[in-house]
Amino acid sequence: MQNPKITVIGSANIDLVTETNRYPKLGETLLGKRFHQFPGGKGANQAVAASRLGAEVTFIGCVGQDDYGKQVIDNLTKESVNVNHVVVNSRVETGIANITVAEDDNAIIVVPGANSSLRPEHIQALEEIIHKSDVVVLQLEIPIETVEAAVHIAYQKGVPIILNPAPAAKLTKEILRKITYITPNESEIAFLTSESEEASLESLFTNMYNLGSNYVIMTCGERGVYYGDSSSSLQHVEACSVKTIDTTGAGDTFNAAFAVSIAMGNSIQDAIEYANSAAALSVTKLGAQTGMPTIEEVEKFISNKEKGNF
Ligand code: RIB
Repeated sequence: MQNPKITVIGSANIDLVTETNRYPKLGETLLGKRFHQFPGGKGANQAVAASRLGAEVTFIGCVGQDDYGKQVIDNLTKESVNVNHVVVNSRVETGIANITVAEDDNAIIVVPGANSSLRPEHIQALEEIIHKSDVVVLQLEIPIETVEAAVHIAYQKGVPIILNPAPAAKLTKEILRKITYITPNESEIAFLTSESEEASLESLFTNMYNLGSNYVIMTCGERGVYYGDSSSSLQHVEACSVKTIDTTGAGDTFNAAFAVSIAMGNSIQDAIEYANSAAALSVTKLGAQTGMPTIEEVEKFISNKEKGNF
C-alpha cells in the first residue's frame, strides 16, 4: 500500500517547558532545574508523529505572523508535513503552552492565541483535501465549530474520523455519531459522560454509546487501553513498560500511530497495540516531539518486545 494520506486539523503551539523537582504550592516561588522551548500543540504534534511513522500528512491550523509562527511552520516543514494550508493571522499571536515537568508527570496551561482563529470557513475551503484523506485526525484545542465543520465534511464522503477529545469539551450527539473513533483518557471520558472518574468502565462506555459514540478507545496510561463499541464487549490492551522521562505528547503519539495503522487497513486491536508501542517510546525523552519515534524505531521496539527483550 502507498503511504496513507492523513489530514490533521488542530493546534500548533510553542511549548515553554520548565523542569523542576516538584510542583509549586499556590503562592510559592520555586527554583526550577532547566528551561526549554519546543514545538508543540496537539495538532502539530500528531502531524509530526504521523509523518515520522510514514504517513503523507497535511496539517491545517493557524499561527500568528511572529517568530513562534515561523518556528512552527519551519519545524513542520522539516518533518515533511505539508504546511500549504496553515493560516497565518497577523492580528493574533501564535499559541503557547506553559508546561511544568515534575514528579514523572506534567501540568500544562495552553494560551490558544492564533489557534482560536481557525474558523469553519478555512476548513470548508479545503473540503477536497479532507475528502481525499484516508483518515482525518482532530483534537479540541481549536474552536468547537471548526471541529464540527471538519467532522461534517469528512463524514459526507465516509472518511474515517479520529477525535482525540483533549482538552475535554461537551460534544453534541450528532457530532459523536459521525466520529468513527473517539480516544478519551480517564478524565476526558468522565467529563464527556458527566460521570465521576471512579465510575465503572461498563457505565462509562455505555454512556458514551448512548451519547452517540461509535468506537470508544479509552487510554489509561500505565493501565493500558480499553476499547469497544455498542455491539461488542469491552476489550483491553496492556501498556508497554518503559522508563518514563516526560509524558508530554504520549497521547498525541498514540493518536497519530493509531491513525496511521488504521489508515493502513489494520484492525483496531492491531492499531492500538502499534499505537501503544509508539506512545511508550515517546515518553523516554523530554519534550512532546523529541521522543516521537520513527517507523523503524517502532518496528525495532515491537520486535524486541516479541522476543521478550524487556
Ligand atoms: O499534548 C501535549 C501538547 O498539549 C503540548 O505540546 C502542548 O502544546 C499542548 O497543546
